[in-house]
Amino acid sequence: MRYALAGASAVAALLLREVLGPAFRTHYPYHTVWLAVVFSAWYCGIGPSIFSITVSIAGIWYLFLPPYHSLLGKSHTEVLGVLSFLAFSAIIVALGESNRRLALKRKKAEEELRRAQTELEERVRQRTAALETMKEAARNLSVRIMNLQDDERRRIARGLHDSLGQYLTALKINLDMFGATGPREAAVAEECNSIVQKCLAETRTISHLLHPPLLDEAGFGSAARWYVDGFAERSGLEVELDLPAKLPRLSRDLELTLFRAVQEALTNVHRHSESSWVQIRLVLDATQVRLTICDNGKGIPAQKLSRILEGGAGAGVGLGGMQERVRELGGSLQIESSGKGTALTITMPRLEPTSVAAEVLFPATEDGLASSEPLPESAA
Ligand SMILES: Nc1ncnc2c1ncn2[C@@H]1O[C@H](COP(=O)(O)OP(=O)(O)OP(=O)(O)O)[C@@H](O)[C@H]1O
Ligand SMILES: [Mg+2]
Repeated sequence: MRYALAGASAVAALLLREVLGPAFRTHYPYHTVWLAVVFSAWYCGIGPSIFSITVSIAGIWYLFLPPYHSLLGKSHTEVLGVLSFLAFSAIIVALGESNRRLALKRKKAEEELRRAQTELEERVRQRTAALETMKEAARNLSVRIMNLQDDERRRIARGLHDSLGQYLTALKINLDMFGATGPREAAVAEECNSIVQKCLAETRTISHLLHPPLLDEAGFGSAARWYVDGFAERSGLEVELDLPAKLPRLSRDLELTLFRAVQEALTNVHRHSESSWVQIRLVLDATQVRLTICDNGKGIPAQKLSRILEGGAGAGVGLGGMQERVRELGGSLQIESSGKGTALTITMPRLEPTSVAAEVLFPATEDGLASSEPLPESAA
């Protein structure tokens, strides 16, 4: 192909010289073939260039050097002219060839670079996809673990309430009977009774903290109020709870997520913020639920905050877990924090309860469930 191109360029140059004959007359026999030489040297390589030069010289020799249309009888000047043409052509071919090789090398290097870049991009894409899959799996796993933890808490709470609570109640009845047998027995029974009473109260409080029955029976509003009252009393924090006057029931998962968020946020305020005040506000509209929890404490250290916001570990699992729970329900958690305090804002789609009858796990106790007894140390 390259030989054909070079030959064609030489023939075209000779034809052009022929066409320009009337203008050039006997002068400038080489003018047009320079074009063919340059073209061949630039684009076709050494072999085709030599071929093009040979065709050009043969054509010029035969057609444009006197005596015309003859191969013999040329003068010394013409022979010298041909030799000069050959020498300059050789220089042009050498320059063209080195340029052509450089261009080829550059093209090859560019191609290799492009291939390496494509390969790298593909590898990055695969790694990113794998990372995303792993992240998604980790997220699913942590949501599953939290759900299992919720179920476990429910079960332990029910076990504490149903079995331990009932045994303690039976023990109390027996103690009352034992106390009736004599004055000395009455004194011992009274002392034992007060211990059993404390055990009962503690058992009930722990059981309710693990999973407040009010949450299932009466909804987030009542459970939050019960929890906040106990927490404020025990921790000494001033807690403002601002709920809608008529708070309708929401889906079980949504109420549980809101409740666990309040639990975690209050614990964080107590443990980390050095704040003396905290405000919890719930706002509902037709489609969304927004829970904000603000304190006026020292704030989350900037580095920790950016790690938490990026979805990485931020020292503990509380805020991360909260984020996962909220995300699982299609919502988002926003954290704003500075030296003047911290504000958590949870926005979630409003999900209605799936069944009218809320799951009741605990029979109501005779003295009501919204106990204002002090919380055990673990709750604060
Ligand atoms: N209200 C707050 N005020 C100041 N710092 C906070 C507040 N809430 C969280 N932090 C900071 O953010 C970090 C992460 O909180 P997170 O609840 O995720 O973990 P934790 O409370 O340390 O441990 P865990 O909740 O797992 O028991 C905390 O260690 C604390 O430094
Ligand atoms: Mg925490």
